Amino acid sequence: ARHLLGIEPLHPVEITTLLDLADTYVDLNRQAVKHSDVLAGLTQINMFFEASTRTQASFELAGKRLGADVMNMAMQASSIKKGETLIDTALTLNAMHPDLLVVRHPNSGAVDLLAQKVNCAVLNAGDGRHEHPTQALLDALTIRRAKGRLHRLNVAICGDIAHSRVARSNILLLGKMENRVRLIGPPTLMPSEVRELGVEVFEDMREGLTGCDVVMMLRLQKERMDGGFIPSEREYYHRYGLDPEKLAYAKDDAIVMHPGPMNRGVEIDGILADDINRSVIQEQVEMGVAVRMAAMDLLARNLRAAATDGAA
Ligand code: CP
Repeated sequence: ARHLLGIEPLHPVEITTLLDLADTYVDLNRQAVKHSDVLAGLTQINMFFEASTRTQASFELAGKRLGADVMNMAMQASSIKKGETLIDTALTLNAMHPDLLVVRHPNSGAVDLLAQKVNCAVLNAGDGRHEHPTQALLDALTIRRAKGRLHRLNVAICGDIAHSRVARSNILLLGKMENRVRLIGPPTLMPSEVRELGVEVFEDMREGLTGCDVVMMLRLQKERMDGGFIPSEREYYHRYGLDPEKLAYAKDDAIVMHPGPMNRGVEIDGILADDINRSVIQEQVEMGVAVRMAAMDLLARNLRAAATDGAA
């Protein structure tokens, strides 16, 4: 493929190939010298129209460790502020001949639209409520390394599903790899199309967690609730916050995940989040760099193959 816009179009074999390559980059990242030249000579531009810590930092590190020339656009200081549109911004940057564009945008579908207007490879770093493919891939790598497999697992995704691109990409990926996904949360935070997703739905946390291998917690995305129902944090933590008592309903070796940023004491108990015997939250961050290296490496191979075909 030319772009990585979502999990939806990916075949399970492509997912496995990417995760296998990411495993090799985990090894590289743990070495004293973290460098390869696979992206040497290529230009990567990161365009984040929405706040980010993990995704932006890891895409930047990933590009630099693979030898690309990496530029971070400060979108808050760009001509977007003067009224320039997303598409005109993309066309302007496209004229500078980048090879890889990494884009995060608050509107669902904005990254797909942008990808249709440029000549380079586009990676979706999260668009609205739609998809966050590299997050689902790094979650998959974390699960595969912790559990030794990425199939026939019971995975609970808990909390604000309705506003979560992380949930959507994970539901797609975990389903493609033949896992059983359970969504747990209040009906007000379930997406309207939940019955079409091929998942089980639970309102009660203890019931939903029973027998799970993986417990994935999500943040309440208040910035996307635009005037709708916002639960009281105290009540929410009581019913849906993950603490040791609720986790005890999952399997004894169940792992605890959170894509970050997390709100301690709202969706997860802070001590549990730091418990290295149960929580893999820091491993998720580590896998994020490796997965983004693998994604850009594979897209760069496709770019080179297309250029060779074009020249032949
Ligand atoms: N998980 C995630 O996307 O985190 P950031 O918003 O910090 O990039």
